[in-house]
Amino acid sequence: MARPKIALIGSGQIGGTLAHLAAMKELGDVVLFDIADGIPQGKALDIAESGPSEGFDATMSGTTDYADIAGADVCIVTAGVARKPGMSRDDLLGINLKVMKSVGEGIAKHAPNAFVICITNPLDAMVWALREFSGLPHEKVCGMAGVLDSARFRHFLASEFDVSMKDVTAFVLGGHGDTMVPLARYSTVAGIPLPDLVKMGWTTQEKLDAIIQRTRDGGAEIVGLLKTGSAFYAPATSAIEMAEAYLKDQKRVLPCAAYVDGALGLEGMYVGVPTVIGAGGIERVVDIKMNKEEQAMFDNSVDAVKGLVKACKEIDPSLG
Ligand code: APR
Repeated sequence: MARPKIALIGSGQIGGTLAHLAAMKELGDVVLFDIADGIPQGKALDIAESGPSEGFDATMSGTTDYADIAGADVCIVTAGVARKPGMSRDDLLGINLKVMKSVGEGIAKHAPNAFVICITNPLDAMVWALREFSGLPHEKVCGMAGVLDSARFRHFLASEFDVSMKDVTAFVLGGHGDTMVPLARYSTVAGIPLPDLVKMGWTTQEKLDAIIQRTRDGGAEIVGLLKTGSAFYAPATSAIEMAEAYLKDQKRVLPCAAYVDGALGLEGMYVGVPTVIGAGGIERVVDIKMNKEEQAMFDNSVDAVKGLVKACKEIDPSLG
């Protein structure tokens, strides 16, 4: 049986890391696409040349022609610009919206059956726009944010508790921005919820609050350190986890920016929610119940996403 085909739209920092990870995990043959001629070809050749040492057989190719993504099973979109220090994700909206138009049309024409994972920021608005421009089914277009935000939360919690990251689960909902909602009640160490761990003296409420804020600011912390771009290792790893769930029909329960129509009191919008990812794409949205305080934070985040979608419609009236 032929290997799955993975198209990476955007071959910058995240795109290159995605290609390397997909190769090492032997998820499929990889096509790197970019508008900057030479970058996708160079990265593809460089990664292919790591094959003999690493022992993978997947093929790597680079292109500036959408025709080469034909029949892709998975498309991961990182095309666009990344933020620099002092910029919020929302500052990228105008430029990246135009990019989503060309990417959406390219995918619709050449890979209409793909499972599409968008990473380009501002995430929730860009994945919505990409779906609109591509016309693909909602369950086949989603955004990577929750896996990354949860991973950051889990990393900070594991360090605080001095336990393995494997035993820490965490839940982050809402938009991928300053209003994201890390849910302490649904985050655990080996099944013990964080509020109980505070009661057990494993940490204090103050320290937990600081970790939650650091999670919200996780992207900005990396931008501040790198100065020339934004995070790429953890974002790429998170998207690969989602792609693998789809390709292997794992039915993973992962938070991601998905189209929600009915669950969590929402009517037809993209936002970060817990989902089940399998061969059908986003197979289910997990309709969790929030308490009053959590609901208020979630509503605030939903409003922020709605504001960004409104801004997109103002910039490009064809999205109206
Ligand atoms: N079509 C295809 N590729 C494009 C287009 C386009 N219209 N416009 C820009 N690109 C390419 C650039 O040439 C560049 O190689 O997208 C790539 C983006 O790579 P980086 O600048 O290295 O950005 P990266 O760190 O990979 O982040 C990409 O993901 O997390 C988000 O905020 C981040 O929006 C940013 C995106």
